[in-house]
Amino acid sequence: MLYNEPSPLEVKVISQRFNLPNSASIDTYLSTEGYVAIKKALEMTPEAIIDVMKASSLRGRGGAGFPTGLKWSFVPRNTGKPTYIICNSDESEPGTCKDRLLMENDPHQLIEGMMIAGWTIKSTKGYIFIRGEYRYLIPIVDRAIQEAYAHGYLGKNILGSGWDFDVYTHTGAGAYECGEESALLESLEGKRGIPRLKPPFPAVVGAFQSPTILNNCETFSAVPVIFRNGAEWYAGLGTPKNGGTRLTCVSGHVNKPGVYELPMGFPMMRLIDEVCGGMRNGKKLKAVIPGGSSSPVLRAEECTDILLDFDSIAKAKSMAGSGGLVILDEDTDIVKVALRTIKFYAHESCGWCIPCREGTTWLKKILTRFDEGGGQQSDINLIRDLAANMLGRTFCALGDAAAMPIGGFIEKFRDEFEAKLKQSRSVTQSHPELVVV
Ligand SMILES: Cc1cc2nc3c(=O)[nH]c(=O)nc-3n(C[C@H](O)[C@H](O)[C@H](O)COP(=O)(O)O)c2cc1C
Repeated sequence: MLYNEPSPLEVKVISQRFNLPNSASIDTYLSTEGYVAIKKALEMTPEAIIDVMKASSLRGRGGAGFPTGLKWSFVPRNTGKPTYIICNSDESEPGTCKDRLLMENDPHQLIEGMMIAGWTIKSTKGYIFIRGEYRYLIPIVDRAIQEAYAHGYLGKNILGSGWDFDVYTHTGAGAYECGEESALLESLEGKRGIPRLKPPFPAVVGAFQSPTILNNCETFSAVPVIFRNGAEWYAGLGTPKNGGTRLTCVSGHVNKPGVYELPMGFPMMRLIDEVCGGMRNGKKLKAVIPGGSSSPVLRAEECTDILLDFDSIAKAKSMAGSGGLVILDEDTDIVKVALRTIKFYAHESCGWCIPCREGTTWLKKILTRFDEGGGQQSDINLIRDLAANMLGRTFCALGDAAAMPIGGFIEKFRDEFEAKLKQSRSVTQSHPELVVV
């Protein structure tokens, strides 16, 4: 099912089957070049596969944009231990809603991508870790897995290669933290979802203490098209070092919010004006949160010439992150956006490390007081400094994910925090009973 009208400006590569009838079935998949890529990969050595992945310039779609081929090359081989393939479909970053479409509309593409990774490191087991709230997807993905077994693409001696590979679904229980790769592994192993100390990274010590390839659902879904059409073709769709396309999730004050597949490096303003039909009610653009709620906000004037790829957005001191853009119009109250953001992170902090648990809680308390009219002049720098002191000092990147946007709101929209302060002062002067002590 699609949740928005497609745009003619889309380049449909991994979403090419989304609007076909019975798009999730193996018959549809097989009739549209499905399971062709794994046949090619089964003829290749692990080194050759990793070279293709590196040449494709595919970068992880889960958030950090780490080059996928390089990640696969880190997995040690012949250690005598089993190896694992883990698909991260936890998709909990606010503003992000694309992995659900990939699982709902084209689960075989995901399975085939995991198979290619599995063959590369001679893994025999793959797990798809699905966000708890996406329980409705489990029967769809499980049905696809059963179809793949029935057609000999999963199970024993796949396509006569002598290689065995099983895939299982596993649900989280609705914790954002379980999208963090090491907490995900803890949860998968049946433990409380708290992060592990890194290094070692999952490539070396991952699931069940064994070497593991762990990628986002969209990252795995891109792998079959790379092997079908070639690494150069895929790399050429995007910008240098940012190969391919991306499922770009747009929410907020535009006429046509939705999920659109666009080449990496697509101009942000064309996304807003042409793909999404411009700003809602003819309002002016105030700001964009460019890569999920953890990415620092950009003011409208910073968006004029920006391209949607990892390097361009990093140059603007924000992040392409998980590909979720939140578009904010001129009427948006930035203090309220900051408060809403920190409420999420304070709720989702797993509580394992003190700077994150206490930092998010205090930021929430101060921002709540500030928003409710009890703010003090010193609060603005207090919020900024508290966020800055969390950065890089938490056990996992959830603390950074909370601190970065809050620091960004103050840096880019200090004027709005000052204005809220003035407004609360004028209210409390005329109504002293409202002063918060
Ligand atoms: C708090 C937190 C939550 C995360 N949530 C997700 C998530 O929901 N999905 C995801 O793919 N990656 C998430 N990540 C990133 C993963 O840790 C990991 O980097 C990613 O799954 C690797 O896949 P990729 O290389 O294909 O991007 C999260 C990271 C952090 C710190």
